[in-house]
Amino acid sequence: MGKAVEPLFSQFEPKRENIIPILQVVQEEYTYIPEQMMGKIADFMHIPESDIYGVATFYAQFRFEPTGDNILSVCRGTACHVRGAPGIFDEVTDLLNLESEGTTADGKYTVETVACIGCCALAPVMTINEEVHGNLTKKDVRNLLEGKEKLNEK
Ligand code: FES
Repeated sequence: MGKAVEPLFSQFEPKRENIIPILQVVQEEYTYIPEQMMGKIADFMHIPESDIYGVATFYAQFRFEPTGDNILSVCRGTACHVRGAPGIFDEVTDLLNLESEGTTADGKYTVETVACIGCCALAPVMTINEEVHGNLTKKDVRNLLEGKEKLNEK
């Protein structure tokens, strides 16, 4: 009897062109790509696990560490950069006591930078989970994070 197919993969054919969509579904489920899922994807596709790693590590969109409850993604694209994104990033990391990108010790926040997210007219832009926040100032960042804290306390 063969291995049970991981339910997350049931909508896909085991074809190479589906590696990225499968990785995306896995990341949506777990917020990152857990190591054991690499093996499951490889088994499902009947290809070496190293090929799955190769694809996953090539694309910046995939994460390999668990994230915090909230993911703050500061755009580092050119439009955002010239309109103050570095200052926004510094404000976010200062407020959360992070040296740089990463997850806070309490596991509430993960901060990362991302390439242009396609809202350049709103630069500088940050997403909090799936929500886009544009024309950001440092004050906006403080207000947003204070609002999140209140929500997290409820
Ligand atoms: S450069 Fe930031 S949204 Fe395009």
